[in-house]
Amino acid sequence: MNTALEPAHEPAPVTAEAPSNIAFIKYWGARDLETPVPFNRSLSMTLDACRSICSASPLGDGKEDEIVWVEDPAAGRSAASAEAPPSFVERTRRHLDRLREWSQGTAASYSGGFRIATGNTFPSAAGIASSASGFTALTLAVAAAMGFDLPPRMLSALSRSSGSGSAARSAYGGYVEWPDGESNAAVQVLDEDTWPLCDVVAVVETAAKKVSSRDGHRLAVTSPYFAPRLAGLGGRLERVRNALRQRDFEALGSAVEEEGIDLHLIAMSSRPPVYYWSPGTIEVLAAVRDLRADGIAAYATMDAGANVHVICQPADESRVAERLETLGSVERVLRDRTGGPPAWRGGAEL
Ligand code: DP6
Repeated sequence: MNTALEPAHEPAPVTAEAPSNIAFIKYWGARDLETPVPFNRSLSMTLDACRSICSASPLGDGKEDEIVWVEDPAAGRSAASAEAPPSFVERTRRHLDRLREWSQGTAASYSGGFRIATGNTFPSAAGIASSASGFTALTLAVAAAMGFDLPPRMLSALSRSSGSGSAARSAYGGYVEWPDGESNAAVQVLDEDTWPLCDVVAVVETAAKKVSSRDGHRLAVTSPYFAPRLAGLGGRLERVRNALRQRDFEALGSAVEEEGIDLHLIAMSSRPPVYYWSPGTIEVLAAVRDLRADGIAAYATMDAGANVHVICQPADESRVAERLETLGSVERVLRDRTGGPPAWRGGAEL
């Protein structure tokens, strides 16, 4: 029951925006994939430019949900819509059902349909956590359309119930930790203004990855290196936390790069193995080592995809981006940085 939460306003169409995040310590492997319950704590930096935009309009009782995929949501009303992929429609519908069910325990229960129009400002399913921002934007928009101003903790827990664990971390700006075990919501460890950093994303692949994160999580326990990874992960997390506290970029970067490789070590040694990398990934990793040899503090990490997130300080962003743009396998470079929390406003803009 959620009786403590009172609706703040009348149900109405709204538009929400939610940021993606890049994991410094990865969620990889779940005790329970549905809730989900991770094997380990994870910690991420919230992004700014890579975000999902979602409009939710209540259609009223007895109406079917309408789900529209928007190619370039930043263009607003003039953005082209496209047929949403069936798997996306299915996951969205299931989450709408969950949110309607959640509302039954509140003072503003809603069981009608919604028109949902949503899209990402970046390539989906390519190692930039599109389900993190997507499910957070959907959760925030639908709750606000029902009349609720969700506090971040509740947004985190409800977004995570979509099945996308990384969505638990997109409810806050700055640096965010999602505890392991049964704890259902993430917490902010540092806000976005305290230590702004850059994430220069080298896009080497725009096609959707062939193995979902869900399958990767399921297979993680089959790797002979999974138990040793968990045994050493607490120490690496502590190095990341200390580096954040002390604003020690080299200490942060070396732990983040180690962890990025470790995730793929587990994926590649799972049975059957999962290869998210492409030849372009290796080219970018080599370029990042060259940047460091030239005295530029840049460190690489990858989520479950081929694209490489290069973390650096604002003073080095242009030099890092320019170097990555010269690489043959890099289709484009996205310049992003530490971002703030999700937000919503009245009116359906999409
Ligand atoms: C490698 O189960 O949250 O990005 O729902 O596809 O976003 P999606 O994946 P999720 O797993 C995320 C895996 C990861 C690491 C991380 O973000 O912690």
